[in-house]
Amino acid sequence: MHSGTVQYATPRFPNLADCYFYHRMELPDIGEVGEEWDLRQNVSTYLGETNFAGKRVLEIGPASGFLTAYMERAGADVVSVDLPVDYGWDIVPRPGMREEFLQQRRRHLERLHNGFWYTHQKLGLKSKVIYGRVQDLPDSVGKFDIAIIAAVLIHCRDAMGVLCRCCELATERVVVSEAVWRKIMAPFPVMALIPTPTNTACDVWWNIPPESVVSMLQIMGFQKTRVLNHQQWQCSTQKAIPVYAAIGERVSSDSANPDRSGSQDFQVQLPIT
Ligand SMILES: C[S@@+](CC[C@H](N)C(=O)[O-])C[C@H]1O[C@@H](n2cnc3c(N)ncnc32)[C@H](O)[C@@H]1O
Repeated sequence: MHSGTVQYATPRFPNLADCYFYHRMELPDIGEVGEEWDLRQNVSTYLGETNFAGKRVLEIGPASGFLTAYMERAGADVVSVDLPVDYGWDIVPRPGMREEFLQQRRRHLERLHNGFWYTHQKLGLKSKVIYGRVQDLPDSVGKFDIAIIAAVLIHCRDAMGVLCRCCELATERVVVSEAVWRKIMAPFPVMALIPTPTNTACDVWWNIPPESVVSMLQIMGFQKTRVLNHQQWQCSTQKAIPVYAAIGERVSSDSANPDRSGSQDFQVQLPIT
């Protein structure tokens, strides 16, 4: 039970000079903007080849709104959730770096949100925005047909909390897309920590293989799963980066509560060696 009233953000009309654009895209009267990723060639694959017509969509982490616009133009009614500026980021709390990095992230988020609202205004979007933690989304936000979580889980300390809340709110389909930074082969579902004592990673937490996402989607009732391996263009490095889109679909309403009455293995016995 997640109580509380949902609070949608009031649309803003920022100056272009105060905006940061994460996505490369074309804006009317402005031309091409965007510095980090150009998703235009492979956007449908990135979003799990989803049919958005008439669907209510929960989008986690819209950045500058390129995907929001794509989904809305494809017929979706989109609600996007992003971090509040005050929160800053789920930073890796390394002593000595914490305050400075948080301040920098807050300034970045402010400009990123401005970029979103600028896009929203220029493209005449209708989508709504909630600034808050995904795990805290109240039930009053209502159910969604589809949840899209693209390039977000890597940044979330509580990545599984975010994924589980999206699964609770989605009735048909969940899509998780992430870059494949380093392949992980494991005989069971794993997530690997990216920060180490010797690197300086501050804004990323997890390398999550698609197999682990698929496993979690199935656990949460999205039994029909598929992974689309493809590439996306990273403008900052001028490289095509391998990316996966893991798709989970509910097969029937019963599948959210599979019958495990005959099963004894609710408690997994881990071997202790
Ligand atoms: C790397 S961008 C991805 C943008 C877009 N989804 C895409 O795939 O192109 C990450 C987005 O997720 C948001 N974000 C980062 N950490 C988050 C968290 N813990 N919870 C919710 N959103 C988060 C960021 O503010 C940003 O909008």
